[in-house]
Amino acid sequence: MPTQSRGHGTQKDCLLSNNSLEIALAMTSAALLKSLTPPALWGLAKRLRPTEGSKPEWEYVPEGWQAAQRNEDIQGWDVASVVEAYRADWPGFLRNLAGTGPLGLAPESAAAGRDNPILHNIVMSFGYVLLRAAGRKDAISVLDWGGGLGHYYLLARTLAPELRLEYHCKDVPLLTAEGRRWLPTVSFHTDDACLQRTYDLVLASGSLQFAEDWQATLGKLAGAVGSLLYVTNLPLVEKARSFVFVQRPYRFGYDTEYLGWCLNRSEFLDTAAASGLTLLREFVVGHRPNIVGAPEQNEYRGFLFQKTM
Ligand SMILES: C[S@@+](CC[C@H](N)C(=O)[O-])C[C@H]1O[C@@H](n2cnc3c(N)ncnc32)[C@H](O)[C@@H]1O
Repeated sequence: MPTQSRGHGTQKDCLLSNNSLEIALAMTSAALLKSLTPPALWGLAKRLRPTEGSKPEWEYVPEGWQAAQRNEDIQGWDVASVVEAYRADWPGFLRNLAGTGPLGLAPESAAAGRDNPILHNIVMSFGYVLLRAAGRKDAISVLDWGGGLGHYYLLARTLAPELRLEYHCKDVPLLTAEGRRWLPTVSFHTDDACLQRTYDLVLASGSLQFAEDWQATLGKLAGAVGSLLYVTNLPLVEKARSFVFVQRPYRFGYDTEYLGWCLNRSEFLDTAAASGLTLLREFVVGHRPNIVGAPEQNEYRGFLFQKTM
C-alpha cells in the first residue's frame, strides 16, 4: 500500500520510547496546571445547570442547522466550559491510562474509572485500526480530526508503545490551545490547511456528525487519506433520512449545546464510496442515546475505509 505521508524524522517524531514516562510527564503538567487553576473551576462539571426535569439531553431538531441562529444556548464546541471540563478530568484520565488495568475509559468520564464496556470496545477497536494502519511499518502519520486535547494520541501510545507516531490533531481553537499545553509532541491545527497533505491514518471519532456540511468534510478527509480512514462514534439510522439533533451535555460540565447529524447509513456509505473509499471493516460501538422526537432511533457505528482512488 503506497504511503504518501511526509514528515517522518522531524522533531515531533522524536518521541520518548517509554510510553509510561511520557504519560508521567503529562501528569506532572496536569498536576502543575491544576495547582494554578482556581479550585472553583475544578468542580465545574457538577455545578452547571442540570437538564433533569427540563429539556432532554438529546432531542430531534426538525428545522435543522438554522436552529443555531435563533437559540443562543447553542454555542457549539468552542467554549471555555468544555475546556475547563476536559482540564478537570485530564489528571484522572492520565491516571487511568497508567498500569495494566483495562482501558474502558475516556477523558470525559475519568471519574467513572476504566471498566466501561462501551469505552473499552471503542479503545480496543482503535487498537485494531492502529494495527492495520501500521502493517509492517514502525512509524505512521495520523490526522485526528476533532481530536480534542489529543487523548487518542495517548491511547495510541498506550495500545502500541513500539509504534512511532507523527500525530496531528484538528479541532476548534480553544481545545487546540489547551491540547498544545498538555501534549507538545502533537501538532495541533485549527483550520483545513492540515488537509493539504496525506496521512497514513485519518481518524474522525465522534466528530464528523458536528460538521454541518458533512459530505464536503468527508470528501476533504478522504483527500487526506494516504491509506486508511476510520470514522467512528457516528450516530446512524437505517430507514429515516439524515436528520439534525441537539445535545445538551450539561451533565458533563459543558455549558453549551451543540447540533449534530444523525446520518442515514446508506447516505453515509454512498458518500464515502463516491469519495473513493472502500469499506474494510464495520464496528459496532454500543452507544444508543435516545433522541427524543426523532423519526428513528439511532445506533453508533464505526467504519474503517481504505482509499482506493
Ligand atoms: C464528541 S467530541 C469527540 C472527541 C474525540 N474525537 C473522541 O472521540 O473522544 C467531538 C469533537 O469534535 C470537535 N469538533 C466539532 N466541530 C469541529 C470542526 N469543525 N473541526 C474539528 N473538530 C470539530 C469538537 O470540538 C470535539 O472535540
